Amino acid sequence: MAFDTYHCSICGRRVKVQSQADMPVLDPNTGFGICRNCIKNLYHFIEAEEEAQKPRAKKKSLSGMLGEMIEKNKPHIIKKYLDEFIIMQDRAKKILSVAAYNHYKRMKYEMDNPDGDEEIEKSNVIIMGPTGCGKTALLSHLSRLLGIPFAVTDASSLTEAGFVGADVEVAVRNLYYAAGRDVNKTEHGIIYLDEFDKIARKSGANNSITADPGHEGVQQGLLKMLEGSVVEFTERGQRKHPEAPTIKVDTKNILFICGGAFVGIEKIIEKRISKDNSNIGFGSEIPSKEDTDKKFNELIHQVRPEDLMKYGIIPEIIGRLPVICTLETLDEDALLRILTEPKNAPVKQYEKLLAMDNVKLEFEEAALRLVAQKAIERKTGARSLKGIIEDVMLDVMFEIPMSDEPRRVVVTEACIKGEESPQIFPLEENILSKKSA
Ligand SMILES: Nc1ncnc2c1ncn2[C@@H]1O[C@H](COP(=O)(O)OP(=O)(O)OP(=O)(O)O)[C@@H](O)[C@H]1O
Ligand SMILES: [Mg+2]
Repeated sequence: MAFDTYHCSICGRRVKVQSQADMPVLDPNTGFGICRNCIKNLYHFIEAEEEAQKPRAKKKSLSGMLGEMIEKNKPHIIKKYLDEFIIMQDRAKKILSVAAYNHYKRMKYEMDNPDGDEEIEKSNVIIMGPTGCGKTALLSHLSRLLGIPFAVTDASSLTEAGFVGADVEVAVRNLYYAAGRDVNKTEHGIIYLDEFDKIARKSGANNSITADPGHEGVQQGLLKMLEGSVVEFTERGQRKHPEAPTIKVDTKNILFICGGAFVGIEKIIEKRISKDNSNIGFGSEIPSKEDTDKKFNELIHQVRPEDLMKYGIIPEIIGRLPVICTLETLDEDALLRILTEPKNAPVKQYEKLLAMDNVKLEFEEAALRLVAQKAIERKTGARSLKGIIEDVMLDVMFEIPMSDEPRRVVVTEACIKGEESPQIFPLEENILSKKSA
């Protein structure tokens, strides 16, 4: 070995080379060398320096990231994305696009002006419309696009503190887990409180026998959270006791969206309107289904905070949900479009599934229309569409995988009526792509 001993060029110590680890970082031309000890010290120094720089760098990059997100998620872009999955409900799509965009802008404003005393208030949203019209679907697509933590909590599962069941903090805890247990991310996420109408006060017009007397207490509990407060909760699976470590999340910047079907609210709206204007109405004879839907759609868009109050939501909550977003009943044409048009339309899903078995699936137009009509009879909006097709397809989906031959399956109106099974025909061309074959 060329160097049995050397002098460290930094600390000046004489170092004996006993093993490979003692070898200096050395420039043989100049004789410059650094001992192991000094390298260690330098490393720790650099590390500590970098750590000290981090918060500033993180903050800066977060603000930059938000700037990019704002650029990428302008309301018209968000709406265009939602259009790919959700049929109709244009007004709701617009409201939610603007709400999400403003949520980003608020975050950026707050980050860029940490000491500013003028803050932009958040606009929590209430979203209502009949069952199966796309409320939950809209929100879940929105969250997928936005890439900010988003969690759905069923408001009907919440109970007043002290009652058996989940406390209101659970909604924040769900978001905390959706944010990968990152408190900072949690504090800027979106909470969707589904089935919000189920916590209406019993004394409201929605007099359900099953209503829980604790519902008003749940609303009271949600009050602070909606406005902004520090919520404390324990990790999942940990019992609440004084010594249990808790996580604290400030809800000031969390956007709350409260959704529900609010069954029967149209009657409250109608009553109010007819008081103001006695001309309203669609004649006194028994209205057809179309008339009822048309009337519902006209009424629901005219909902006002006082109607929600009558329904059994306490005024303080309504005051904290300034944006009201209404969805319409879906008619036969809309259901027909839902079957085929969205990116994840049920018909497209079945086509893809059967294509994997070398089968080309075809639906007759009349068959699809009948599916839509059946769904309307079931009164569950678009929710039952897939189930109706599933029933018809069961036998075919069982039979098809028995062979690898290319085939064609045709679903007719009679199949939907339950009068015959979908027909299977041989097919000349192989539809399996080479890659998947
Ligand atoms: N307007 C729509 N466009 C496309 N698909 C829809 C639409 N409305 C509903 N669907 C589909 O129907 C199913 C049920 O819809 P969703 O869960 O959004 O109903 P909801 O409005 O939340 O009803 P509920 O009040 O019962 O919770 C989903 O699979 C969704 O994809
Ligand atoms: Mg829903």
